[in-house]
Amino acid sequence: MSSIRVLTGITTSGTPHLGNYVGAIRPAVAASRASRVESFYFLADYHALIKIDEPARIQRSTLEIAATWIAAGLDPERVTFYRQSDVPEIPELTWFLTCVTGKGLLNRAHAYKASVDKNTAASLDPDADVTAGLFMYPVLMAADILMFNAHQVPVGRDQIQHIEMARDMAASFNHRYGEHFVLPEALIEESVATLPGLDGRKMSKSYDNTIPLFAPREQLKKLIAGIKTDSRAPGEPKDTEGSALFQIYQAFATPEETVALRQAYADGIAWGDAKQMLFERIDREIAPMRETYESLINHPDKLEAMLQAGAAKARAIATPFTAKLRHAVGLRDLRAQATQKNVKAAKAALPSFKQYRESDGQFYFKLMDAQGKLLLQSAGYASPKDAAQQINALIQNVNEQTEALIKSLQTSAPDATPQEAVAALQQLRDAKKKD
Ligand code: TRP
Repeated sequence: MSSIRVLTGITTSGTPHLGNYVGAIRPAVAASRASRVESFYFLADYHALIKIDEPARIQRSTLEIAATWIAAGLDPERVTFYRQSDVPEIPELTWFLTCVTGKGLLNRAHAYKASVDKNTAASLDPDADVTAGLFMYPVLMAADILMFNAHQVPVGRDQIQHIEMARDMAASFNHRYGEHFVLPEALIEESVATLPGLDGRKMSKSYDNTIPLFAPREQLKKLIAGIKTDSRAPGEPKDTEGSALFQIYQAFATPEETVALRQAYADGIAWGDAKQMLFERIDREIAPMRETYESLINHPDKLEAMLQAGAAKARAIATPFTAKLRHAVGLRDLRAQATQKNVKAAKAALPSFKQYRESDGQFYFKLMDAQGKLLLQSAGYASPKDAAQQINALIQNVNEQTEALIKSLQTSAPDATPQEAVAALQQLRDAKKKD
């Protein structure tokens, strides 16, 4: 199959605003129409539970976000559009990934670290008010992505670390249990504008400066009237630079329309007139969608049916894949005999360390894979004990720093990369654990 799988999740924790539309929804809907792309869009309602403990808000946000995506033109026949909590295989995969993820990796997640830093600064317990859900957020997100073997994940910059962690988890799992997962990549849309909000800062729920995408006409007009401008009077030329109003207009207008507004700024258009132009331009694009949106909000049965159909499509992939993963990790039908032979064969194929003394009187070690390929060649140590300690440290702490450590130890290993050496160490460590 030569098509690319693209997947993205939307946390159901709010009401979509113009910034979400311009920055995520509109480009995603456009991308979903490309050929040779298999798109997966889902409502990340398990993720929403991490932030919100008001059941009615979760439900309302799920309804609004589902209605928004359909109203914005997402075609549920063409893409797989589903609700995360309708796919119970995702929490199951979350557990499999949890068991191959270093706690240290999660300690370094930005969102968790930010909470800890805040607590520390306030002289509180570092983990005060931090749920295990927040801590586990990256694992759940990795399960979302890996379940469908997505190649590309369109996300904002703040999510790049999560995608990198998903890659790490995929690699750890693959390494232990065979090549099951594609390593996903973050897709960052450089060309898409971030929209300024009412106060000129980035439009964001956390700044409370948003314009809801489907605010009724009158409310939209009122909100636009509240966009911050400077105090230049009608007739005075105005700056497009730094003008939130201008930037928002540009995100909706054709290049010709933008040129015309630029000219109007230079000619001293009154702020009230510019706001009227902006209102009309946005409403022209939004009004037809708003109608669909309102009708869907009033017919939750239609949305529910769409999501159920989406879940069936998603599970047609997730259920058999999970069966395969269960088998891979050893959750198996007892009637299928595990062959001890295979276990032995796997053991025999382990990489190994060799220690030796050179004619310079120093003690060295090298790491080789089962086929004898050199993965790591150490520098000299004064005593065999020093060398052995280094070897033990390498096997026992395979973590984020290991690659750098190997690079620093490496004197020569012409035929292997540090990643291969890390993978071999992990294999040795796993084998030790099982003894
Ligand atoms: N964490 C994402 C956000 O806050 C939402 C999300 C959950 C997601 N699971 C995902 C995005 C999987 C992409 C892929 O924006």
